[in-house]
Amino acid sequence: MDADLIKLVNKLQDTFANLGGELDMPQLAVVGSQSAGKSSVLETIVGRDFLPRGSGIVTRRPLVLQLIHTPVPEDSSQTYTEWGQFLHIDKRFTDFDEIRKEIEQETYRVAGQNKGISKLPIHLRIYSPNVLDLTLVDLPGLTKIPVGDQPSDIERQIRSLVLDYISKPNCVILSVSAANVDLANSESLKLARSVDPQGRRTIGVLTKLDLMDAGTNALDILTGRVYPLKLGFIGVVNRSQQDINSNKSMSDALDAESEFFRSHPAYRNIAHKNGTKYLARTLNQVLMNHIRDKLPDMKARLNTLMGQAQQELNSFGDAAIYGDSNQQGALILRLMTQFARDFVSSIEGTNLDIS
Ligand code: GDP
Ligand code: NA
Ligand code: MG
Repeated sequence: MDADLIKLVNKLQDTFANLGGELDMPQLAVVGSQSAGKSSVLETIVGRDFLPRGSGIVTRRPLVLQLIHTPVPEDSSQTYTEWGQFLHIDKRFTDFDEIRKEIEQETYRVAGQNKGISKLPIHLRIYSPNVLDLTLVDLPGLTKIPVGDQPSDIERQIRSLVLDYISKPNCVILSVSAANVDLANSESLKLARSVDPQGRRTIGVLTKLDLMDAGTNALDILTGRVYPLKLGFIGVVNRSQQDINSNKSMSDALDAESEFFRSHPAYRNIAHKNGTKYLARTLNQVLMNHIRDKLPDMKARLNTLMGQAQQELNSFGDAAIYGDSNQQGALILRLMTQFARDFVSSIEGTNLDIS
């Protein structure tokens, strides 16, 4: 994630907290058919390998993933700067492969061995200096036909589960569709539209561009000529099953993805508006817009505080100048007022439109 955004959000969050409020950041949820690549996309956004992925139905419980920004420790005796912690088990996971295994086991424990689904979420927190405070939700894929232990109304159950998350106005929807399946059949776009008809908080993600039939391409979709979305469609190439089996690293995968777009005759000219990195930047922009919407409220609160501080300062009168027992109080108020003033001007000077 973008380092400047992380810094800004942290500063705003601290300030809001000092003012007795909070800066509620949006949730981000993935919606799409089974095996469309939802877990893969989330993983690349976080920048770490830790989610179970694979063909067929892998994600069978919602995973509510809370990213928590932690500063790099100054104390060098602390070896780990990134770790995970589940709600259901009192243990600090520093090995991300173990996090994946624990998610798999917790899935089995509650949703059974045989393709069953559970509404009961798994809660995982990731602490890291490289993330900003944000909640991501990985969801089971939309499906039509029951398999294994799934009930006959599995389609309805998963839809209602997904809607529980994406109908919240504070939810940013990543609507994931695979490029090797006809977009007209995309259930995720239909579902996203039902809760976000204007397409204000939906980002279209088109995966598996590398798996399209020879001679076909998704240029029309990616340029918005097939399905208009305000935030657009972004093409990505995630790791294939073969890549996963051979432990291809995330950075190698990102390099291969850039190369794919740059060298593809159909995508060469739109390469800069596709790929996982561009998706992450778009996401940053959506978050920035969200923060910008919150700024008037924050400024109003700061102004009230400044007014109060000024009044109290005046009431100290000459004592503040000539010094007595109130001197320290006056000084603190003066510094606070100055801080608030500086902060308002720093917000006004911040270029929040990063497009
Ligand atoms: P989910 O079920 O929607 O969460 O999908 P997963 O992330 O588990 O991916 C399903 C399978 O598709 C895995 O085997 C992935 O390796 C594979 N996959 C996902 N995205 C892509 C892609 O862009 N290209 C290729 N070749 N395979 C992909
Ligand atoms: Na899958
Ligand atoms: Mg999944």
